[in-house]
Amino acid sequence: MILGIESSCDDTSVALLEPNGFVRALSSLSQDTRHAPFGGIVPEVASRQHTEALLPLVDSVFQKCGASWREVTGIAVTSRPGLIGSLLVGVVTAKTLSLALDLPLIGVNHIEGHLLAPFLRDDQYQPNEGFDFPYLALAVSGGHTHLFRVEDVGSYFLIGHTVDDAAGEAFDKFAKRVGLGFPGGHKVDEWARSGNPRAYEFPRARLEGKPLNFSFSGLKSSMMRILEDWSDDRVEASRADLCASYQEAIVDVLVDRMQLASQMTGLKNWAVTGGVSANSRLRERVLERAQSQGTRLALPPLRYCTDNAAMIALAGAWRLKRGESADQSLSASSGHLQGDWIQA
Ligand code: KG4
Ligand code: ZN
Repeated sequence: MILGIESSCDDTSVALLEPNGFVRALSSLSQDTRHAPFGGIVPEVASRQHTEALLPLVDSVFQKCGASWREVTGIAVTSRPGLIGSLLVGVVTAKTLSLALDLPLIGVNHIEGHLLAPFLRDDQYQPNEGFDFPYLALAVSGGHTHLFRVEDVGSYFLIGHTVDDAAGEAFDKFAKRVGLGFPGGHKVDEWARSGNPRAYEFPRARLEGKPLNFSFSGLKSSMMRILEDWSDDRVEASRADLCASYQEAIVDVLVDRMQLASQMTGLKNWAVTGGVSANSRLRERVLERAQSQGTRLALPPLRYCTDNAAMIALAGAWRLKRGESADQSLSASSGHLQGDWIQA
């Protein structure tokens, strides 16, 4: 089994995974309530929370499935990209365990984890029959909105990305403005259920010459303009309609880009992953679109869509199997994607 560790942002997570992708145990701790009073993630608070949470989570995965260290054959840890202080907690812990227990170590790119998450399995979930490489993957969260052509393990071609805010950020900024706190994506989702998606007209940006890129800054400005001189009472009275209309604009853009990318690449396997894929309207609309296009869709359950260590363990397991590994010089890097390929 591979032990996976994820601490790149504000979720601490540890997993034990069989090399075929079966998750034996996953334990995660969200820091949402710690950061909520600040209206955003405070990096120093995040690192301290990871430091406190990580080793108890390691103990917890062994307890959950009754496994012992003797069954572990490698350690995979997210080493990039992310908040540097947060990443360091995971990397230093993984290096120490690797040294103390003489186990192979591998550093994993966090985005690679999200892209491979559809292949995870457990007692309740397994990927769609026939879902396989190559596929189109939308990784959509608070930190990323990226569209990839995934050809194989280690071959990820970035074909579209946001040029400003990530979709989750667009949800969170809106949620804050309409009094739903931080991070408020899931609350927008809940309020939208009783609202009218056509009550307000929000822009859906398509970028000239770069049809697969995303931009959410115009949407945000438009929302700020509409609400400029609204009282709190008026916002509250219109909240459901505002949420439904704003959410619809984001979902329209995400589904539109998936379909366009599918037409441009000819890919008939789709995967959607990342925290925003928890959005019920996005799930509904992308499923509808996939069915009407005759496309195989992998929509992993939320525990594998949000930041989690099982996806990191899977990417690490496949890389270790290919003979790759890291040594004690492994370091964390905050850097974002560069160029068209991720060299994970
Ligand atoms: O993947 P994730 O847990 O962390 C990273 O950002 O990497 O994603 C968190 C993001 C937040 O922006 C949150 O507001 C958004 O996902 N989110 C949602 C929903 N649930 C979480 N956005 C819209 N609808 C939801 N149901
Ligand atoms: Zn993520």
